[in-house]
Amino acid sequence: MTTETDWEALYQSGEAQWDKGIAAPALLAFLAESPLTGRVLVPGCGRGHDVRAIAAAGAEEVIGLDLAPSAFADVEALPNTRFIVGDLFALPPAFASAFDAVFEHTCYCAIPRERRDDYVQAVASALKPGGVLLGIFYLNPRDDLDPTLGPPFNATLDELDTRFSEHFTLLRSETPTVAFPGRENREVLRLLQKK
Ligand SMILES: C[S@@+](CC[C@H](N)C(=O)[O-])C[C@H]1O[C@@H](n2cnc3c(N)ncnc32)[C@H](O)[C@@H]1O
Repeated sequence: MTTETDWEALYQSGEAQWDKGIAAPALLAFLAESPLTGRVLVPGCGRGHDVRAIAAAGAEEVIGLDLAPSAFADVEALPNTRFIVGDLFALPPAFASAFDAVFEHTCYCAIPRERRDDYVQAVASALKPGGVLLGIFYLNPRDDLDPTLGPPFNATLDELDTRFSEHFTLLRSETPTVAFPGRENREVLRLLQKK
């Protein structure tokens, strides 16, 4: 059994070892070619490096959402960024069909398997019809495959295919050519469009 993770406590005690201090390299490479446009939601945004990168690349508004208030209590905001304390599984009604894009990075791997279908539902519900999910999915943050351990929790390409296919069309799937040290060949970049 997995126990509930106290993300707030991890930030408060300085144990946010996933935080690299900069945006995901594969996101920066993607944005250099195809900036995300319109309103963008970043669930599990942590300290907001990805939020600011998407905003700086030209999105109209980027909302970073995280359960843990301490994650972004003292971070820099840009004019087109907003940080909201909240639960992806209890999104405000105003978020329904409100976003042109959602960006996923190390949130999915934080979600226990039994809640991952709820993750897909939540992301799909936040997107406008035809909106896109850009994900840098951290597939195997752990070398062991013990499903009872985590977070982070592993994922497979087959799992992503199965979970997302009902609500999304897969437009692109590739191993990023750039990654944080130690994450090389452990991630997949996927662009999915809401059906
Ligand atoms: C592994 S951290 C990654 C943070 C950030 N994406 C990064 O790369 O630095 C996972 C984040 O997801 C947040 N989180 C976990 N479950 C969540 C939920 N149900 N709703 C919103 N945020 C959540 C945690 O508080 C944490 O900040």
